[in-house]
Amino acid sequence: MSSSPQKEIVPANIEQLKPYVAGKTIAEVVEAYQPNEISKLASNENRLGHSASVDEAVNKALKVIHDYPDPLSKQLRSAIAERIGVKQENLIVGSGSESLLGILCKTFFHNKQNIITADVTFIGMYVQAQIRGVKIKKIPLTKDFRFDVKAMVNAIDEHTRMLYIANPNNPTGTYIANKEFEWLMENVPKDVLVIMDEAYYEFAHDVEDYPDVLSYNFENVIILRTFSKGYGLAGFRVGYGIAQKNLIDYMLKTKLAFEPGGLGQAAALAAFQDADFLEQSRHTVQIGKEELYNFFDEHNVKYVPSISNFVMMVFETEDEAVFFTQKMLEEGVILRRINAFGLASCVRVTIGIPKEMEHFKRAFKKVFS
Ligand SMILES: Cc1ncc(COP(=O)(O)O)c(C=O)c1O
Repeated sequence: MSSSPQKEIVPANIEQLKPYVAGKTIAEVVEAYQPNEISKLASNENRLGHSASVDEAVNKALKVIHDYPDPLSKQLRSAIAERIGVKQENLIVGSGSESLLGILCKTFFHNKQNIITADVTFIGMYVQAQIRGVKIKKIPLTKDFRFDVKAMVNAIDEHTRMLYIANPNNPTGTYIANKEFEWLMENVPKDVLVIMDEAYYEFAHDVEDYPDVLSYNFENVIILRTFSKGYGLAGFRVGYGIAQKNLIDYMLKTKLAFEPGGLGQAAALAAFQDADFLEQSRHTVQIGKEELYNFFDEHNVKYVPSISNFVMMVFETEDEAVFFTQKMLEEGVILRRINAFGLASCVRVTIGIPKEMEHFKRAFKKVFS
């Protein structure tokens, strides 16, 4: 062995990377606590499942799984383009919004350029930026847990390449309204890209002052949406981006050639065409959320009103949040602590189907009895 100083195996940004830690799986909870019943309300998935038409489409797609899939997801892009009123050239399909965030980070950044976002938002954004060595400027949320749009604009410097806003935000469920979006766009330089991550769009777009970002047609805006939430296809990993053709062309250059896989493309197309299932999902979330707010009000629990399929509970202390999450887990209710997102005294609850929400309420009462 040579005695020369050993080179670092990986660069510092990878060495220091804290990988994404997912919520507990059902199997892990069963093994640890053997509860009578399990309700997985930790990862903002669609608790109703997915459209029945997906099964048939996937079975058909299985027959050609030995062939590479269409690298441009043309059928799916065509269906999306027609529905939302853009051209196919304005769309990119990737393996979930998470992959699209990675594509953004590897496509648009020169050395030393930065991205501005909130200090409490989707962790996948931080992870993808750090993997690519992109500096992140994290701006504190407002006191009412919202993106501070003015402070974000004030933080723009000559190295800023991108602003990232999850609308609604995860884990808070809060959103920037159309007036804020308009102000933002008037004040952001045209060479700064504005990423509007609309992962929960299907649950949010009916809200009166939720911005219809697409309708403004801004040249420097990239919208991200996913099939993981409203459409119930988190396991298939399909998401899409909407932007001007020149931006999409650059992103297509860096995306993995064959993402998403053929089964995912087929599943997403079938799900996209099932309006009834989507409506049922939206309805389930709306009713479940209203009932949960009532329950929280009755039990003096602080929470943040949400336009998404989850609600954030706010405890006084981190110890209370730890205690509550652990006791609920022992009762078979899997929740998500928000410490990794930077809010140690908060806990996120995904809105489940009625049976799961009843389980949540029963377990809550037992824990606090
Ligand atoms: C705001 C936000 N963006 C993106 C994602 C990732 O979505 P996908 O499953 O499409 O990668 C999530 C998932 O929780 C999210 O909350």
